[in-house]
Amino acid sequence: MKSKFEVSKEFLKNDDILKCPICGERLLFLDKSLKCDKHSFDISRKGTINLVYSKHYKNSKIYNYELFKNRREFIIGGFYFRLYKFISDILNDRFSSECTILDLGCGEGSHSKFILDLLKFDYKYYGFDYAKDAIKLASDYINYNRFYFLGDVNRIPILDSSIDIILDILSPFNEKEVKRIIKDSGVFIKVSPGKNYLKELRDVLNMEEYNNENDVFDNLQKRFKKIDKYNLNYKIEINEDNFQNLVKMTPAKKNNSSVISFVTIDLNVYVIRI
Ligand SMILES: C[S@@+](CC[C@H](N)C(=O)[O-])C[C@H]1O[C@@H](n2cnc3c(N)ncnc32)[C@H](O)[C@@H]1O
Ligand SMILES: [Zn+2]
Repeated sequence: MKSKFEVSKEFLKNDDILKCPICGERLLFLDKSLKCDKHSFDISRKGTINLVYSKHYKNSKIYNYELFKNRREFIIGGFYFRLYKFISDILNDRFSSECTILDLGCGEGSHSKFILDLLKFDYKYYGFDYAKDAIKLASDYINYNRFYFLGDVNRIPILDSSIDIILDILSPFNEKEVKRIIKDSGVFIKVSPGKNYLKELRDVLNMEEYNNENDVFDNLQKRFKKIDKYNLNYKIEINEDNFQNLVKMTPAKKNNSSVISFVTIDLNVYVIRI
């Protein structure tokens, strides 16, 4: 079996949309680096590349290895299958030939990996995140059509009008950058928490509820013309391990003593055309 490093090399040999995060020139793959005339970015042993302009980089203390590891353990429990099916159905209806997919703030990569597994068309997938530990874990999903890099949603190292599908699952986005990189025929899928998302967990951790659901929609409506909004809302049963994973993957939590046996999944899916 080829190493992640070798597999990513194959992916990058066929890449034609990455650009230099420093000078903006198109990057070309030579030997084991992406290069423009002035700058060079090496593939790591894990098959990923750091494409954050280093002057701007500050690794996150909150989004650390422990958080992403627990997030993965929870996600692979299968609790979000309805979300994957919902998004993949929309994409399978709309696309049939090879597409480029960009995943903004992909985290440790499991959500999008499960969506990709349901796609019926060919694609080239680029996942990126600002947290080093996220990309280290996401590298487990590297494949000939899946590549992961360290990047910033505010300065995306991708050429203009080159992406068919932008995914944003519970991550931040930058309107200008989204509009710059997406093709006219493209679709931007944004997932954000509804008011009751993980409500029971937030209650036992003494955290505030998500009360900015309407702000997110208003904000999107100001920025994009064609938006369809859907809501997925269901309860799931969780065991003690699931509960511990949830607690450890929740940033800014407060101490708790009780355990819960179910939680609400309440997610809004915005399907946005540019
Ligand atoms: C709630 S997590 C969601 C991660 C993943 N999409 C998932 O659903 O599992 C938010 C993610 O956004 C990333 N993030 C925050 N600011 C970012 C930025 N400026 N550029 C890229 N990623 C960023 C964080 O590192 C984190 O992985
Ligand atoms: Zn450059």
